[in-house]
Amino acid sequence: MNLIFLGPPGAGKGTVADLAKDALGIPHISSGQLFREQIKIGSPLGKRVEAILKAGNLVDDETTIEFVRERLGHPDVARGYILDGFPRTIAQAEALCAFSRPEAVINFTLSEERILRRLEGRRVAPSTGRNYHILYNPPKVAGFDDETGEALIQRPDDRKEAILNRLEVYLRETRPLIDHYMEKGLLLDLDASPSPREVLDQLLLLMREKGIH
Ligand code: AP5
Repeated sequence: MNLIFLGPPGAGKGTVADLAKDALGIPHISSGQLFREQIKIGSPLGKRVEAILKAGNLVDDETTIEFVRERLGHPDVARGYILDGFPRTIAQAEALCAFSRPEAVINFTLSEERILRRLEGRRVAPSTGRNYHILYNPPKVAGFDDETGEALIQRPDDRKEAILNRLEVYLRETRPLIDHYMEKGLLLDLDASPSPREVLDQLLLLMREKGIH
């Protein structure tokens, strides 16, 4: 089962993908997380993309496509995948077609007001990327990861200025993918405003209704 999670920053794609990967038995592949891991280990790629991520701009298509293409060649995707954050441009969507066929594109919808609230309150564990929210999904001890106890941080691209840029980039570069995938008959809208568990349940229901296994 090959699924794409599409939607604006902060809509909850990563949070629901983490729940859905267990429910569906397929890996969650986040292009943003792949880049953040490269930054953390200080690889040449990580050094090249660090400032781009911090500002909320997109990494160039060529680099991103090659990086994701390589990841989709790993054995754990034999039964399918949840691709979160890729494709993000028409060029990436066209390239993806050449090496993998998505079966459904889940379009997360959420108002801008809620997007801002979710992003401003997000905190992450640096070693795993595990997500929290200071109000909606707080850790057991404020400021620290539940499992490792490490101090949580705010992602550099969750500062107000970068968030606003990411929203602009989304509207300009990524939103056109909604029409692109609608024309291909692959698009399924998902209301991302309820709790993560409820969004997951809606997703699983939608997939059953559409006969996607
Ligand atoms: P990426 O990591 O993909 O960032 P994004 O798309 O902006 O998505 P986010 O991770 O911000 O949001 P999300 O929808 O996953 O929300 P989350 O579940 O965390 O990309 C980062 C950067 O990498 C890009 O800016 C770019 O530079 C680069 N990049 C990545 N892919 C690229 C590509 N294809 N091409 C070029 N460049 C690329 O939730 C947000 C918060 O809300 C959390 O705190 C969470 O706890 C909370 N929350 C989630 N769901 C709910 C809910 N239902 N109710 C209440 N709170 C909730």
